[in-house]
Formats: sequence, C-alpha cells, structure tokens
Amino acid sequence: MTNGPMRNGLRGAATNHARRVRIAGTGKAVPDTVLTNADFERIVDTSNEWIVARTGIHERRVATDDEYTSVFAVRAAREALEMAGVEPGDVDLVLISTVTPDMPFPSTACLVQEELGAKDATSFDLNAGCTGFIYGLSVGHQYVASGAASTALVIGAESLTKYTDYEDRSTCVLFGDGAGAVVLRGEDPPAPNSANGLPGVLSVAIHSDGSLAHLLEMPGGGSRNPPNRPETLEERLPFIRMLGNETFKVAVRTLAEVSGEVLADAGQAPEDVKWLIPHQANRRIIDAVGRRIEVPADRVYVNVDRYGNTSAASIPIALDELNRDGRIDSGDLILMAAFGAGLTWGAAAVRF
Ligand SMILES: CC(C)(COP(=O)(O)OP(=O)(O)OC[C@H]1O[C@@H](n2cnc3c(N)ncnc32)[C@H](O)[C@@H]1OP(=O)(O)O)[C@@H](O)C(=O)NCCC(=O)NCCS
Repeated sequence: MTNGPMRNGLRGAATNHARRVRIAGTGKAVPDTVLTNADFERIVDTSNEWIVARTGIHERRVATDDEYTSVFAVRAAREALEMAGVEPGDVDLVLISTVTPDMPFPSTACLVQEELGAKDATSFDLNAGCTGFIYGLSVGHQYVASGAASTALVIGAESLTKYTDYEDRSTCVLFGDGAGAVVLRGEDPPAPNSANGLPGVLSVAIHSDGSLAHLLEMPGGGSRNPPNRPETLEERLPFIRMLGNETFKVAVRTLAEVSGEVLADAGQAPEDVKWLIPHQANRRIIDAVGRRIEVPADRVYVNVDRYGNTSAASIPIALDELNRDGRIDSGDLILMAAFGAGLTWGAAAVRF
C-alpha cells in the first residue's frame, strides 16, 4: 500500500475554466499487404469497373494473420507522440475507437497502453462505428478542456477485413485496415474562436439514432448471437452486413447537416475551410457532401481509392497524410465529418 498521491487515473474534477485543446501530433499505420480490385475479380463475381464506378475504391490494405488492431494502433500512436514531442509516460488518457478490438476484453486501449509504456494513463475503448474517431475526439476534448487530463491520445484503429464476408460481393470490396492517431494537449485559455485565430478544437458535435441500427451491423459474436452457439457461424453472423442503398442516403444527409452544425457553432463559413476530411466510405458520398456544403472539390480530401473504408481509422489516417505532406499550415481550419454504425454521425472543426 502506498501513502503518496495516486499516480494513475484521470485527475481533477471538471472545472469551469475551459482549456484550449490543440492537436499537437498526428500519426498513421496501414498494413503493407495490398488487395486490388483485380484480386477481387478472382474472389467474387465483380469487376474493377463496377467497384471504381460505384465506390471510387481501387485498392485497400489488408492485415495479415499476424497483424491485428493494436499492432496498427501502437504504430500510429508512436508517430503521433513523436511529432508532438510527448513521452508515453506523460499521456493521461489512451482512447481507442474501434469496432474490431483485439478481443472483447481487455480493451485494446489497455493493450496499447502497455505496449507504449503509457504507465500513468487511463485507457478505454469506444464503439461508435465509422464515427468512432469524431466521438473519440469529442470525449478526449472534454477531458482535456476540463483539465481532468493534460494529454490525451485519441486513436481510430480497425482490422475490418477480419470480419469481411468474402462470399458477399456487395460488402467485401469496401473495407480495409489501419489506424490513425492524434495527440491532444491542453493549453491555457482563452478558448479558440473565430476572432482570435488560436489553434485548437473549435467545435465538435456527435449524434446517434438507434432506430437505424439495422442498416449496418455485425450481428454475431456478442451476447445476442454468441460464439458458443453453433448457428452463429452457420448463419454467418460474425460478419459485416449492410443495407448499402439506404445507408448511402442517410450518410449524405447527416454528413452535410452535422458539418453545417459545427461550422455555424465555430462561427466559420464553408469558404474558411482549408480541408474537408469526410469519412472515406465511398467516393460518391464524399463528392455529394462536398457539393452540399459548398466546399470546393480541390479542398475535399480523398484517399478512399487507396485504402477503402477503414471505419474509425479513416479520418485520422487522412489527417496525418495531409499533415505530414505539409499540406496543412498553421492557422488552417480543418473540417472532419463522419457517419457509421449505430447509426452515428459527427463532425469537428479544428484550427491547426
Ligand atoms: C455498397 C454500394 C457501393 C452499392 O452500390 P449501389 O449502387 O447502392 O448498388 P446496389 O446495392 O443497389 O446494387 C446494384 C447491383 O449491383 C450488384 N452488386 C453489388 N455489389 C457488387 C459488386 N461488388 N460487383 C458487381 N456487382 C455488385 C448488386 O447485386 C445489384 O445487382 P442487381 O441489380 O442485379 O440486384 C453503395 O450502396 C454504398 O456505397 N452505400 C454506402 C455504404 C457505406 O458507405 N457504408 C459505410 C458506412 S460507414
């Protein structure tokens, strides 16, 4: 038993003096193995032309048997910490958004905490489907803004191809694996706003509607259809299922609405946005959202062609690509927006 102060855990109750929350570092990791549309032509009844025309996807990265979600999460986290100049021991919160954890428990965040050596952190997973990163940003932002944490590591990490049904051509071509991470750091007030131009999270909004849960689900492997029931595998329940057409329509509407919501809340207009980073699910959804919220096409970031849909990892992977390529300058306004299983949707406006 120790008599000294507790070292672990999130310290301090929420206070009224909101701190400014800055993205201090970004990182990403994707598998080396590439699965092209030509590869899929040999697996299911499909064609490169169909996949490109309907989704914009040309190839995706696929985890090997020896790779799993925490492997990518750790690599992305190390990159983000290095960029931020933060030691693992200074991280207060490790938050991983994922629908494909290493295992149901312990949380992938605890496994990553150990691997990183983030000994003083509190760690937990969060499931908000493909909106996971925006949810993680919202939760991390709250802890850091309140002063309960000084430094938070927010990671979106997935190994979706492990749950892909390679007998279902309408879903198996869509998904890929990888991870992206950001380091959030608390700075002294004032909070950033449209007038002071300070770097930081300007606004985050998250929403959900469980009445649309059936549009996108993995029905097996949990307590409703458990692994110890033979029918679970026989009925191919632990696989991704999606009603693509209906999801498409809801996606475009919710992404446009929530983007407008955070822009208005941040006191910004579409022309102030340097980069719109939409969740990378489908090129046609991305283009439709850009048009609806009137961000010009050359400011809408697209990498779905190279990675497919990596769920909670898609936005932080894209953010890190832009950041590392030097395509984000200090003062730039970045708008990120996602939707996914739940249904969930959310957006964030962040000044770099
Ligand atoms: C999945 C998606 C690409 C399908 O495109 P779509 O234009 O809606 O196509 P449909 O599902 O209506 O199917 C049209 C036809 O293509 C066929 N098809 C489906 N997948 C195919 C494939 N990989 N190759 C060839 N044909 C395919 C269907 O069987 C159907 O054939 P039919 O008319 O003979 O029945 C599209 O619905 C989509 O992207 N939805 C959003 C999904 C999404 O973003 N999910 C992520 C949420 S985070």
